[in-house]
Amino acid sequence: MSQVKITETVLRDSHQSLIATRMTTEEMLPILSAMDEVGYHSMEVWGGATFDSCMRFLNEDPWERLRKIRAAVKNTKLQMLFRGQNILGYRHYADDVVEYFVQKSLANGIDIIRIFDALNDPRNLKTAINATIREGGHVQAAFSYTTGAVYTLDYYAKYAKQLEEMGANSICIKDMSGLLKPYDAYDLVKTLKENVKIPIQLHTHYTAGLASMTVMKAVEAGVDIIDTAISPMALGTSQPPTEPIVASLAGTPYDTGLDLQKLDKITKYFTPLREKYLKEGLLDPKVLKVDVNALLYQVPGGMLSNLMSQLKQAGKEEKLTEVLEEVPRVRADVGYPPLVTPSSQIVGTQAVFNVLMGERYKTCTKEFKDIVLGKYGKTPVAIDPEFAKTIIGDQTPITYRPADDLPPELEKLRAEIPAGYLEQDEDVLSYALFDKVALKFFEHRKNQKYGVDAKHADAPSAVHPV
Ligand code: CO
Repeated sequence: MSQVKITETVLRDSHQSLIATRMTTEEMLPILSAMDEVGYHSMEVWGGATFDSCMRFLNEDPWERLRKIRAAVKNTKLQMLFRGQNILGYRHYADDVVEYFVQKSLANGIDIIRIFDALNDPRNLKTAINATIREGGHVQAAFSYTTGAVYTLDYYAKYAKQLEEMGANSICIKDMSGLLKPYDAYDLVKTLKENVKIPIQLHTHYTAGLASMTVMKAVEAGVDIIDTAISPMALGTSQPPTEPIVASLAGTPYDTGLDLQKLDKITKYFTPLREKYLKEGLLDPKVLKVDVNALLYQVPGGMLSNLMSQLKQAGKEEKLTEVLEEVPRVRADVGYPPLVTPSSQIVGTQAVFNVLMGERYKTCTKEFKDIVLGKYGKTPVAIDPEFAKTIIGDQTPITYRPADDLPPELEKLRAEIPAGYLEQDEDVLSYALFDKVALKFFEHRKNQKYGVDAKHADAPSAVHPV
């Protein structure tokens, strides 16, 4: 039994899950030094959707945000979320882009990179893991937790061992859907502790109302680190709240060592911000309630709000139940992928199409065809060739690592950026990930620098990122 450590997620996953990643750097800066004094194991501050949202909705440079956070957080480790060969984007990138992104993330202040693959295909983690090791960062290899016939304790133990052998410094159970139930968490953590030597971290969401119970059972089973969010930005589709967990473990062998008085400063800072998000409509009370759909349909927090928003745009909000019922059917058709970005978007959008078109697979997105073609990696269960044929015709799915097809692309990307836009080496990575969004942002940044009226820039939109 040992002390349990805490990763605070308020600056990344918590606001990504609750308010579609709209917290601004300005809103973060005043509280950073107080957060730095708490003694968290780490603060998750970057990656996931934060990068896209900075440029797309907030007219902010994500790299600048990271540097500002790093400058204010002198002692606590900074952590980011990294989707293997997808980096933070929605396609596979060539190895040179992945390596350069890892290098620049660490150079700008990240200490721990949590690397995962939507399909749990280890070949998709290899380049990012090796680059992080080479650059002296902490590799936290994560697996996407999900349920279903193939997802046995043995499946997870084998995968975790494989990640340890690949050089991971710690393992994260990434329960992005909030599906992990307390006693299953106990068995899973016990199994992992018996099979790997490196620390185990638990990341879960409150979506289905399980998270605090799940954390407690994971703690009893020996989990080393847990992800929590300060209470004003916790619960619902976010993480379990930090303060009650710290209080519950205080004085036990699992004591986090964190001081509730110090945490109270953080609580008090985020309380009025929460009120503001509610008032502005950024925080939809719907995402705060216990959602049993997550248990029935394995729908992650972020995915649920995206589905709601897609249907809202189509004026078909009443179709939500039908779409939620279609999601597991689509998932079964494509080999039971865990539902996490980008597979959650691919399966979710296809489910929306299937329902709104009134006929299944009448229209398929390119991404859906690509997952059937093996372009995202190996699905946990093989896709039925007969089904594949109805989607991709006579094309043959690939069986090798998808990125093996990709020649180096960094130089080509750099050459594509119009003269006058490049202000820092990192800009090529922003462009690599979100080309059109980045160019628009570069234009805005340039105009601001030369005093062009900022009102021509787009105001932050209320649409959730997909
Ligand atoms: Co999450």
